[in-house]
Amino acid sequence: MMERRLTLRLRRVAVGRLRGVGMETVYHKIIITTRPESASFAMGELQNYDRGIRPVGDLAVGVKEIYLPGGYGKLLADAPPLIFVRHMFPVQYFAVGEYAAADILAGVAIPDDGGAFSVQMRGDTDPGLIRRLENALEERNYVRDDRYPRWVLSLYAHEGGLYAGASRCGDNRSAWNGGTPRYKRADFISRAECKLMEAMETFGLRPRPHARALDLGAAPGGWSKVLLEAGFHVTAVDPGALDKRLAHHPRLSYVCATAQRFLAARDKAEIFDAVVNDMKMDMYDSVRVMLDAAPFLAPGGVAVMTLKLAKGQGLRKINKALALLEKKYRVGDTRQLFHNRDEVTVLLYRLSGPAAP
Ligand SMILES: C[S@@+](CC[C@H](N)C(=O)[O-])C[C@H]1O[C@@H](n2cnc3c(N)ncnc32)[C@H](O)[C@@H]1O
Repeated sequence: MMERRLTLRLRRVAVGRLRGVGMETVYHKIIITTRPESASFAMGELQNYDRGIRPVGDLAVGVKEIYLPGGYGKLLADAPPLIFVRHMFPVQYFAVGEYAAADILAGVAIPDDGGAFSVQMRGDTDPGLIRRLENALEERNYVRDDRYPRWVLSLYAHEGGLYAGASRCGDNRSAWNGGTPRYKRADFISRAECKLMEAMETFGLRPRPHARALDLGAAPGGWSKVLLEAGFHVTAVDPGALDKRLAHHPRLSYVCATAQRFLAARDKAEIFDAVVNDMKMDMYDSVRVMLDAAPFLAPGGVAVMTLKLAKGQGLRKINKALALLEKKYRVGDTRQLFHNRDEVTVLLYRLSGPAAP
């Protein structure tokens, strides 16, 4: 079928500003996605970086068009780690009306070194347009890989307008469309499983053979299950019981105790390659437990914890908690992932020790 050509274009905006002829193009708009309840925190952290950054409008709940005075490249290069922006892409092409695949591809900045791509569309999705774009890219010898793309052509269609931008997958902050992972799980012990799966994927965590993990606040056992599936030997600690499906697992031992009691009674000779903590607890109390757990972490070991946010707690409290953690850890990353509700997930490395990465 012949591709529909552009018949109506009320507004087609050159969204980039060319600096010199054939030189660098600066893109001044991005589309960000956040947890709806955290949109103001996301704006806060962007404006802490540059007070000139402002929202242009809402495309949907938790999806905002943002103006960047300094441009997208500068944001990628200079901005401090962002916690609440779950996903973002640069706006390199914008059109209203009907849009042809060829126009979109001519308008976006496809990386020269190409490789595996994925086309991701949200809002008023158009499967026909997605297919035409995929076909056109495959004809140019790019390889479609929706799971592990190197770069992504992101599209957002809203009220007749289409926003598009091509960017490296890592710069989007998630390989998933809009930062929304879809994990297929047959036999959930708890919804929290997805939280750890997403954290391990986002932070690139894979255990070495025979690695040992300590799971603090383990019940009913979703995180322990994910750790076991990843190959860890797991010590699960919680005053609450684990799900029966985990009973008798040969690589799991369960300790019925609070984390504080467990750590106080434990011989420091017992060392773990990973400590995870999803305890339902005030964030500063949870931080104190993690400081006590640090001596049990092997050199090069990693820790993953959730910091639970009480009502009204945001960036300032999180930064205070991170500063406390820095007494014993290097903070690798802090993110409000898709599966986090009123909490953020923190990646920590043991501070001292020769093998700490
Ligand atoms: C959100 S649930 C953990 C869910 C778990 N990650 C999973 O995937 O199934 C929080 C857990 O923290 C535990 N908890 C709260 N205070 C604790 C403490 N002081 N020591 C150990 N566990 C604690 C609770 O008993 C509860 O099981």
